[in-house]
Amino acid sequence: MQEILDKRRISGEEKNDLLDMMIHARYEDTQLPMTDEQLVDEMLILFIAGHETTANALSFIFFEISRHPEAEQTLRNEISTLGEAAFTPDSLMKKSYTLNIIKEAMRLHPPAWGIDREALEDDHFKDYSWGKGTQIILYIGGLHRNPKYWTDPEAFIPERFDDENARNFAYYPFGAGPRLCIGEHFAMMEMVLIVRKFYQLYSFKSSHDQVEKKALVTLRPIKVSGKIVKNPI
Ligand code: HEM
Repeated sequence: MQEILDKRRISGEEKNDLLDMMIHARYEDTQLPMTDEQLVDEMLILFIAGHETTANALSFIFFEISRHPEAEQTLRNEISTLGEAAFTPDSLMKKSYTLNIIKEAMRLHPPAWGIDREALEDDHFKDYSWGKGTQIILYIGGLHRNPKYWTDPEAFIPERFDDENARNFAYYPFGAGPRLCIGEHFAMMEMVLIVRKFYQLYSFKSSHDQVEKKALVTLRPIKVSGKIVKNPI
């Protein structure tokens, strides 16, 4: 990251991209720019938060599509009905079956499976109370499969997201509040594009019935292997 930063500075090139914006940003109070250390930190967080999460989500999405041929067929029908319109920025963000599949796969396998906070003060909420410095983990993976909020929570049912209210209260793959993921819309758009481009031409046949997962900072599949098959035209 430092090398990329050095190269950009030395070249004097103006690309008008995110890196340029961060280099030129000034603090409101001091008018000072960010130090190199801060810039490298910002670049790292964008790179890691934006890359690993989306890559893991896509692995789970491809796995779930492979386990549900009827969902794959509906997806394929949507892609062929839309034609070239399937890839316009407008259509990528519109309500669609592709989006439903992505949302449902992220409900069952949220790459950000837990969100952690440290209490700045003694605090309480309903029947719970905790002291300053307590580490609190919100278990998003558990919430997404809680039968109190989801009918048939273990099943892969993309249609449940036809209901606009399905994401209320019990669905937080991108977090919520002031620290809501800044890349949510970018990630959704990127994933719809990748899924549609891939399934327009190919199919993925997983060789597993179950996906083994590892809950590290992100939830990642240990292995999703299988075959990529070209669709008959
Ligand atoms: C499927 C993909 C993604 C998932 C599941 C995801 C998930 C999340 C979650 C749950 C948070 C909140 C963390 C918290 O409250 O502590 C978050 C924050 C963040 N995400 Fe994402 N993210 C994704 C893609 C992206 C992309 C593509 C970018 C950038 C291009 C990005 C950049 C960030 C940043 C910078 C934050 C910190 C925001 C802040 O603290 O103010 N994410 N993400």
